Amino acid sequence: MLLSLTDRKVLVTGGASGIGRACVEAFRAEGARVVALDRAGGADVVRADVTDESSLAAGVAEAVALLGGLDVVVGCAGISGPVGTPLVETSAADLAAVIAVNVTGQLLLAKHTYPHLSDGGSIVFLASDSAFVSVPGMVPYCASKGAVVSLTRALAVEFDRVRVNCVCPSIVDTPMARGDLGDEALDDAAFPVQTAEEVARQVLFLATPLSRAVNGQALLADFGYSARSAFPA
Ligand SMILES: NC(=O)c1ccc[n+]([C@@H]2O[C@H](COP(=O)([O-])OP(=O)(O)OC[C@H]3O[C@@H](n4cnc5c(N)ncnc54)[C@H](O)[C@@H]3O)[C@@H](O)[C@H]2O)c1
Repeated sequence: MLLSLTDRKVLVTGGASGIGRACVEAFRAEGARVVALDRAGGADVVRADVTDESSLAAGVAEAVALLGGLDVVVGCAGISGPVGTPLVETSAADLAAVIAVNVTGQLLLAKHTYPHLSDGGSIVFLASDSAFVSVPGMVPYCASKGAVVSLTRALAVEFDRVRVNCVCPSIVDTPMARGDLGDEALDDAAFPVQTAEEVARQVLFLATPLSRAVNGQALLADFGYSARSAFPA
């Protein structure tokens, strides 16, 4: 399959860890030039906080200077927040933190990268299957990921020069998931688990001209769980 990513200029937020890191490596393996942006450090990481507009703008400016423009932007920076805590016991500060990174961070990323994106470019956000399904103790995270699906659709309408899509994976084996669920739950999982590399391939598809007609969409990659009827057949 011809991905046409050679020398494409790619910015990945959350690029120091997990799915973001896997995206950085997958794009590089296809010949793209990639800048990773993250609030955490790393040898090849531009340090910036996606919730802080001046910090993010400076990080984007540095990436644009390093690459000479942008063709693809991937928004992976995210936090799970107080997973496992019922909403009635969740502080306003914890709610605000989840919305700040997962929603405002993606909006600011779109705001500051769109002027630099080439015509025909692509933005891909990490949403989650949590935009569509839930378990108790995940209300803020689910709300934030539902917002990512919505902002994806709205941006696809407003941004006429680039496509905007999001991926919505179920559980992915990353430091975030291990931190929330524990190593045991993932090492001997009683449910299907994706690798970060598998999610990166979904992102790559949405970033390439192969998906030229796909715009404003949420790619729900959950092994078909959400498609099942309540009817016990
Ligand atoms: N792991 C899963 O099961 C799963 C499933 C569906 C969706 N997702 C989503 O995928 C994305 C990546 O998650 P992951 O599992 O790789 O997590 P991760 O914790 O391994 O990586 C997230 C990265 O985002 C960075 N980050 C967090 N807040 C930031 C900020 N304010 N500014 C800049 N960088 C910031 C972190 O430093 C980290 O490097 C997230 O948006 C997450 O919600 C994860």
